[in-house]
Amino acid sequence: MKHKITECTDWFLDRFPLTKLWNDHMAHYYAPKNFNIWYFFGSLALFVLVMQLVTGILLTMNYKPDADLAFDSVEYIMRDVNWGWLVRYMHSTGASAFFIIVYLHMFRGIVYGSFKQPRELIWIFGMLIFVALMAEAFMGYLLPWGQMSYWGAQVIISLFSAIPVIGDDLSLWVRGDYVVSDATLNRFFAFHVIAVPLVLIILVFLHIVALHEVGSNNPDGIDIKASKDPYGVPVDGIPFHPYYTVKDIVGIGVFMFFFAVVVFYMPELGGYFLEDANFIPADPLKTPEHIAPVWYFTPFYAILRAVPDKFAGVIAMGGAIVVLFLLPWLDRSPVKSIRYRGGIYKKAVLLFVISFIGLGYLGTQPATPTATMFARVLTAVYFGFFLLMPLYTRWEKFKEIPNRLTEQPSLEDRLPGWIAAADEMVPKTPVTDEQGQTVEKRRPNTAAIGKVLVRNAKKLKESLD
Ligand code: HEM
Repeated sequence: MKHKITECTDWFLDRFPLTKLWNDHMAHYYAPKNFNIWYFFGSLALFVLVMQLVTGILLTMNYKPDADLAFDSVEYIMRDVNWGWLVRYMHSTGASAFFIIVYLHMFRGIVYGSFKQPRELIWIFGMLIFVALMAEAFMGYLLPWGQMSYWGAQVIISLFSAIPVIGDDLSLWVRGDYVVSDATLNRFFAFHVIAVPLVLIILVFLHIVALHEVGSNNPDGIDIKASKDPYGVPVDGIPFHPYYTVKDIVGIGVFMFFFAVVVFYMPELGGYFLEDANFIPADPLKTPEHIAPVWYFTPFYAILRAVPDKFAGVIAMGGAIVVLFLLPWLDRSPVKSIRYRGGIYKKAVLLFVISFIGLGYLGTQPATPTATMFARVLTAVYFGFFLLMPLYTRWEKFKEIPNRLTEQPSLEDRLPGWIAAADEMVPKTPVTDEQGQTVEKRRPNTAAIGKVLVRNAKKLKESLD
């Protein structure tokens, strides 16, 4: 019997290079040995992509892409289909999780200069994935046909009409009707279920092929291929399999813990993952009081609203994404990783993060005059980070880059320090209980909390210098 199986596998392997593919991309693919927590997000994005595809296929089996039936079919999935509630919540939570992961993955690229030469194409494919992901999420959000699905799509599609000359025709063409209607729902369904997922899968494949051609960057931003042993193996590299396959599985386990907490205990996450207004069926005659997109679009939505002119706002919103594409050419620094850059880049990244999170918050809020003023300042900071980059990355001093990867304290090394700080802030204090006995209980110590905060602020300042 064994002989027959071996014969079969040999027959297959003689005709298909499976062993070669496995060795080239897993067992003999050498990755830098110093990957840290930031390097979990690529494989996590891959995992969530598969999860979205599987749960999406299951949802499609019971969903009806018809304006009269769509909302009820989602309710049917939630109440009557076996495990339908789980599949639906996994898919809706998965959408937000996908964006959290992709934003962290992109941030890692900015911090360690992973977009720089020779990885420009990996970045460009990544950005195309990001745009496709936004289109996928936008069209998916219309499908439950709730109030926010309907009015969100109405607002965003009507933005096209701000484009001079062709605007009105363009938005009519996108909707397939004068308002968002059954025709819009049908085409969005087709795009969400088949067209965009196909594009995403192809782009992710190209992203990984481009990555394996040049090899991974790492937190030191040093090329491991520059130091090889006599067998041609990078001395600072380790085989991707088994070392990183095992590590990535641990990452997926940790992710699934947090994911399950949201899915089982707080699937709406306070209206951020599933907006309250979307539990009401779409009503074309009744505009919700406050229309806001889902959280992952709000930084760009805030930029749109910050600009007084509608067309200029659309250009600014598009520009906020276009500048990200240009990153590899805006950064003129000779070093990649933030570890070896000067203080200006570190402060610029900090300001960029503040502007992105600030804009994200403002995009969820009503556009009061004060909110609009803040949004304008943060929009200027956002664009300043990119447009001034050719100047400050060229001017600033950078540290000397070592030839080989450096040793950094691991999570295990850092843990005792964190525990000591927690002990200091919430120390065990003797208290008298109801029976008059003295027992030790943890009580927050305001002075110690202040001291720890000041100490860490000083450390942060030092690291920014
Ligand atoms: C579906 C979405 C995505 C998937 C599945 C994905 C997958 C991956 C994987 C598996 C890696 C290697 C592991 C790692 O370095 O973490 C990687 C690396 C990389 N990705 Fe993505 N990615 C996605 C989106 C993006 C986006 C949106 C960008 C940026 C615009 C991006 C930029 C990069 C870069 C620059 C690297 C190389 C990082 C380095 O070597 O330091 N990716 N990606």
